[in-house]
Amino acid sequence: MSEGITVTRYTQDEATCTLDIISHGPAQTQRLGMRLGELLRGGELILLDGQLGTGKTTFTQGLAKGMHINEVVSSPTFTLLKEYPGGQPPLYHFDLYRLDEPEEILDLGFEDYFYGDGVCIVEWAGKADAVWGPELLRIRMRVINETKRSLLFIATGAPYCELLRHFQKNTYATVSS
Ligand SMILES: Nc1ncnc2c1ncn2[C@@H]1O[C@H](COP(=O)(O)OP(=O)(O)OP(=O)(O)O)[C@@H](O)[C@H]1O
Ligand SMILES: [Mg+2]
Repeated sequence: MSEGITVTRYTQDEATCTLDIISHGPAQTQRLGMRLGELLRGGELILLDGQLGTGKTTFTQGLAKGMHINEVVSSPTFTLLKEYPGGQPPLYHFDLYRLDEPEEILDLGFEDYFYGDGVCIVEWAGKADAVWGPELLRIRMRVINETKRSLLFIATGAPYCELLRHFQKNTYATVSS
């Protein structure tokens, strides 16, 4: 798949759209997060996956900025969740690195957030793959070299495909300005 091309695939009852982007540095990853954050209205679930130090928190920092959240966003590794209730909508930042069993999420009462009105962004989402519903935006991040990262956006469900198309437009509109 080439950079910046949206490929849309439809199966019988759900849509899957993907967008592949290369980031050339932390500032660009933040900017991508910001462009996505600007489009969020509440109720979205965004899952981030990628090894240590790929840029999941960096992306989330940009996303918070795009949502006009001015607090410092840092990794909630030890607490699993940090809440930013001041946003319109609020932002919930999860980091499941230290999660042992997917079911723990249910014990912690996190499900209420995932199906609530805020925006949820989840680092190490693969740790809880058993609990995710069918409609969400997944971002798979990979290290290419010291400063380059590959970001594969995978939207499932029509509303998330729509969001990804808007994101693509928002990203390219600002690249050329
Ligand atoms: N293109 C890039 N995008 C994002 N970060 C980059 C990039 N190039 C280099 N970096 C560096 O990689 C590191 C990414 O750190 P970050 O905390 O965002 O990763 P993470 O995926 O959240 O890690 P963890 O799994 O520990 O939570 C930072 O030190 C950042 O400066
Ligand atoms: Mg992190």
